[in-house]
Amino acid sequence: MINAAGMNAVDECERDPQRCRLMNVDSTANLLAARHRHPFKLVQLSSNAVYGRGSAPYAPSDRREPVNAYGRSKRDAEDLVRADTARRPSPPSLASMIVRLSPLYGWSPPWSRLNPMPWIHRSLSRRTPLDLCNDVFDSPLAADRAAGILWRLIGAGAAGEFNLGGRDTVSRHGFGLALASAFGLSVARLRSVRLDSFAWLAPRAADTSLRDPRLLAEFGIESEPLRAGLARQRDAVAAYDVARAPAA
Ligand SMILES: NC(=O)c1ccc[n+]([C@@H]2O[C@H](COP(=O)([O-])OP(=O)(O)OC[C@H]3O[C@@H](n4cnc5c(N)ncnc54)[C@H](OP(=O)(O)O)[C@@H]3O)[C@@H](O)[C@H]2O)c1
Repeated sequence: MINAAGMNAVDECERDPQRCRLMNVDSTANLLAARHRHPFKLVQLSSNAVYGRGSAPYAPSDRREPVNAYGRSKRDAEDLVRADTARRPSPPSLASMIVRLSPLYGWSPPWSRLNPMPWIHRSLSRRTPLDLCNDVFDSPLAADRAAGILWRLIGAGAAGEFNLGGRDTVSRHGFGLALASAFGLSVARLRSVRLDSFAWLAPRAADTSLRDPRLLAEFGIESEPLRAGLARQRDAVAAYDVARAPAA
């Protein structure tokens, strides 16, 4: 079972840390309790937000030092999974996995939480003014690529902890420039600003990029350049538009 549930809006978590804890930590404790009654393999999705005070890019063995309530809740949920693994070793086929994800990008259904790609794409397409910060960095990962890697790891019977990120470290402004280039959009109304020009509630770490040498060494999984991931999103839209076009 892949545990993708939780409260993931960083500022909401800062505003209401108790609810954040309930949804991210206590929910994981419930799953672990259920797992004792009916054993299953748990894949715990976690976040680059568990890091932030050390030196990026972070590998799975690096010290987790989150800077906000969201990151602390994800670290504490990981600790429950770690403690459970240490206390009750499972047969290899049911061993738990913790998979930390970098911010994901890709087309999302209209009812879901918007990731940065659709809203930056929309602003650039409509030529509305857009401020993106230039001093907070991470390693964005295409959502379809993340799903593919997850299935590969599960299929290979992997266990332990993994950090999934794209190959490139960029700021949100850098991401906007790369997106504009991939989709042939104008950046005339895109402004590069500092993080402190936004009224964020939760602190953000300067760089939470992820790396994981084990992915290539043990599973032959290469990290994907941002350009390649964005080009695939662009082609997916083109294919979608062709499929929807009325027959001639
Ligand atoms: N997306 C990213 O960029 C990103 C980056 C790093 C890590 N992650 C991790 O990846 C996982 C999935 O992220 P996401 O972006 O898909 O999150 P999301 O869009 O916020 O979706 C979370 C889902 O969890 C559901 N949920 C919340 N509490 C629940 C509960 N108690 N029982 C059952 N369902 C519950 C929510 O349902 P409702 O809609 O009904 O509230 C929502 O559908 C999370 O663990 C997150 O930390 C994501």
